[in-house]
Amino acid sequence: MMQRTNDHRSSGTGKTILATGGAGYIGSHVVVCLLEAGHRVVILDNFENSDRYTVARIPRIAPGLVVLVEGDVRDQALVTDILHQYHVDAVIHLAGKKAVGESVADPLLYFNDNIGGAVSLLRAMQASGVSKLIFSSSATVYGMTEIMPIDESAPTSATNPYGRTKLMIEEIIEDLTFADSDFRAISLRYFNPVGAHSSGLIGENPKGAPNNLFPYVAQTACGLRKKVQVFGSDYATPDGTGIRDYLHVVDLARGHVAAIAHIFGPAPQNRHQRINLGTGTGYSVLQVLEAFSKACGFRIPYDFAPRRPGDAAQSLADPSLAHRLLKWKAMRDLDQMCADHWAFQMKAAHDARPTLISRSAPGSSLSVSRLSPAP
Ligand code: WQD
Repeated sequence: MMQRTNDHRSSGTGKTILATGGAGYIGSHVVVCLLEAGHRVVILDNFENSDRYTVARIPRIAPGLVVLVEGDVRDQALVTDILHQYHVDAVIHLAGKKAVGESVADPLLYFNDNIGGAVSLLRAMQASGVSKLIFSSSATVYGMTEIMPIDESAPTSATNPYGRTKLMIEEIIEDLTFADSDFRAISLRYFNPVGAHSSGLIGENPKGAPNNLFPYVAQTACGLRKKVQVFGSDYATPDGTGIRDYLHVVDLARGHVAAIAHIFGPAPQNRHQRINLGTGTGYSVLQVLEAFSKACGFRIPYDFAPRRPGDAAQSLADPSLAHRLLKWKAMRDLDQMCADHWAFQMKAAHDARPTLISRSAPGSSLSVSRLSPAP
């Protein structure tokens, strides 16, 4: 059983947060920022798309109380146990599948995992009296909108099953806030998260060939991939390639800490707020290749290839609601994103495997690990 600082109930501003999917690329950065802000964190992760060693590195970056529970957010009894046992004050729900292509090939997998996981979590929260939720949503809910930059009032639509699950979960949350007057939620609509923590200890290390641009460029830069395929050079953009609002993952994580502070403040009229997290500045594929070449010190090989089906010419956030409501603003530019992503890519293969001390908590179904930094 892990030793806990006196009572695990929230004392002062520090809250106890359950981070589902907290071992993932975004989740691990969110956990680090929560710890740095003085919160205590329980990570629930099934390690389907994440790595135990990422979690074991967290104590080397940020001091603080973090508990790891290996399990699935769809296990309602387990989640209820966690919420009670650790006196959780709020939940940040990041667990879910997020590969667009996979969702097109197997939509039922996405509805089962993403929608099923969200409903199971919400039921456990309701049963446990935990009424504050930050949901990891996505700019993908805006579909192929032409309005640029995109603010939260823009029309939503789904262009793939993955995006549809994000939209559907936002609607489920909306309905719950109408049914349960205690329930409060913030759906954070991420634009394009990239980069890594400056320590180089945590970052994006996708299993298999990356779907997204940054990890593919990074793997090409370190020789894991032959060359980058630039999907489309005939878009109505200055250099013909797709433009996106790339956001440093640490800035994204800071947005979650700001959302936690906000959700414990005075309740607004609309208890489900949807908020963009983006920089408001867009960069094309060729500009990313240019910036990444500067970061790694050599030209990155690429070829032009046909457009990727479903891709929009550009996607750009209007982040003014986050600035106003959350007092949050992205602080890291494209050069920093590339430098940090590259530093992580270079370190990823060489780090010592830290150890996890795992014990099952007596009398409960929780398998709990107290994290210790690598020797
Ligand atoms: C960026 C740009 C591509 C790969 C996706 C998800 C979205 C969100 C973020 C979760 C585009 C081009 C890409 C490559 C390329 N994820 N590209 N060669 O498609 O904007 O968004 O990730 O929420 O839901 O859809 O990101 O990185 O795949 O593409 O030219 O090998 O890079 O055409 O213009 P995207 P991306």
